[in-house]
Amino acid sequence: MSIVNALEITREAAKEGYAVGAFNITSINQMEAVVEAAVDRKAPLIIQASVSPTKFLKPEVIVAVYRALASSAPIPICLHLDHCTEVDYCKHVADAGYTNIMIDASKQVFEENIRQTKEVVDYCHAHSDASVEGELGTVSGVEDQIKVSEDEAALCNPEQAVLFVERTGVDIFAPAIGTAHGVYKTKNPKIDFERMAQINQMLNADRINTPLVVHGGTGLPDDYVKRLLEAGGAKFNVSTELKHALIDATYDYISAKRDEYNPGKIDIAVRDAIRAAVGRWIDMLGSTGKA
Ligand code: 13P
Repeated sequence: MSIVNALEITREAAKEGYAVGAFNITSINQMEAVVEAAVDRKAPLIIQASVSPTKFLKPEVIVAVYRALASSAPIPICLHLDHCTEVDYCKHVADAGYTNIMIDASKQVFEENIRQTKEVVDYCHAHSDASVEGELGTVSGVEDQIKVSEDEAALCNPEQAVLFVERTGVDIFAPAIGTAHGVYKTKNPKIDFERMAQINQMLNADRINTPLVVHGGTGLPDDYVKRLLEAGGAKFNVSTELKHALIDATYDYISAKRDEYNPGKIDIAVRDAIRAAVGRWIDMLGSTGKA
């Protein structure tokens, strides 16, 4: 149906109390699988690529595939650059046609985070239709080039969140609330639901100004996901689970058919595994039928 930015579809989600699934891809095959799953569920979708897969596959190639898939899919789809720490690369990728850009200056001190985020916001708003995501506080774990130890992880201060959003003009906002990238080390990760709800209240009480993003979807118990939706999560990021699905499906297929040498069948096995994982997330996020 359409090429959209993240603000358009997450604002709608925030109003209605569901979240748009944002799924990280590292290959074109994964990208197609994610779109197939969202089309099956009639759900709005955000496809995400971190900096390494974007550089490896090339932004222009990813954008060409994105546009081809989005133009024939009956759902709105956004293409997001995930956790980019380089201001110039954010601008380059927005120029190439990504429709949401995440500048991640969350490891910088507050004023420098504001300066870098605002520079990307000003550029994207002047030169493209892309919306921009910023982060405050730090999410522990590893996502591509970003590594944050548990000691370094800092939760987002709600008063600073309001200042950050006002001063940067960021469109969607990721507050650190205790979720983590990668596999959780405990079954009951310590998530600050109240902090999330308070930030949502301070930013979005009268009308949805700045939809909130939840990072670190992989491994969150279902009831935590539900509580994060209630607290205002409107974009939900899932990466590690899809990397595991790709590698496990490849390994299982090759182990079972060691003498076959038919790469297309490995791709189909991967696509089936990704579709199943993404479909489960879309149902859990309540976005099924919302496109
Ligand atoms: P997970 O890898 O924990 O699913 O986190 C994804 C994420 O937040 C990407 O930005």
